[in-house]
Amino acid sequence: MEKSNDHLRVRTACEADIPNYSDKLAIAFGLEASQIRAQGLRDLADKNRCLMVATLREEVIAVARVTHYEVNGSLKNTEGYFLLGLWVEPSARRRGIGKLLTVRRMDWVNNQQNTTCHTLIDAYAIGSLKLHEDLGFRHTDTLADGRRLLTADLSEN
Ligand SMILES: CC(C)(COP(=O)(O)OP(=O)(O)OC[C@H]1O[C@@H](n2cnc3c(N)ncnc32)[C@H](O)[C@@H]1OP(=O)(O)O)[C@@H](O)C(=O)NCCC(=O)NCCS
Repeated sequence: MEKSNDHLRVRTACEADIPNYSDKLAIAFGLEASQIRAQGLRDLADKNRCLMVATLREEVIAVARVTHYEVNGSLKNTEGYFLLGLWVEPSARRRGIGKLLTVRRMDWVNNQQNTTCHTLIDAYAIGSLKLHEDLGFRHTDTLADGRRLLTADLSEN
């Protein structure tokens, strides 16, 4: 589970990574660092979840997760694997790291013998919408809070 590009590595996270990104991620997503740390530990402990990081010279510069759950959309309930929590350090953006982390998580879902995966994106998050649409995600439903549910058919690749 590892890809190298100079000093860039994308790999599944370990417990020691969590303190290295929790403060930055908490600010980015408007949460407490303790919530981010607790969520990271839950992700590592659950075989239905995946936590990935990108590191550059041992520093965590991007984080993303996969979790299995069910959401209530305006059209229907959707249950399955959701790619969530994608964050790339501002100074490292537009270098393909967010896309790489997303491809790697799609591979992870596929390896769980699952041919569909989903994500939830705020309607105003244009960069994230474009990134996911370029990878085959399509808008299939909308949640009550306005977030878009996008779904990708992994068997198409
Ligand atoms: C959204 C985010 C994860 C993108 O990460 P990134 O590493 O910069 O993305 P990539 O370099 O892999 O971009 C891949 C493609 O996505 C699209 N894209 C990414 N950011 C974009 C932006 N700000 N505006 C328009 N398109 C964008 C582009 O098509 C880009 O390809 P290009 O650079 O060749 O034009 C990053 O900006 C981020 O962490 N934002 C804050 C947190 C957030 O919004 N997370 C998503 C929650 S759903």
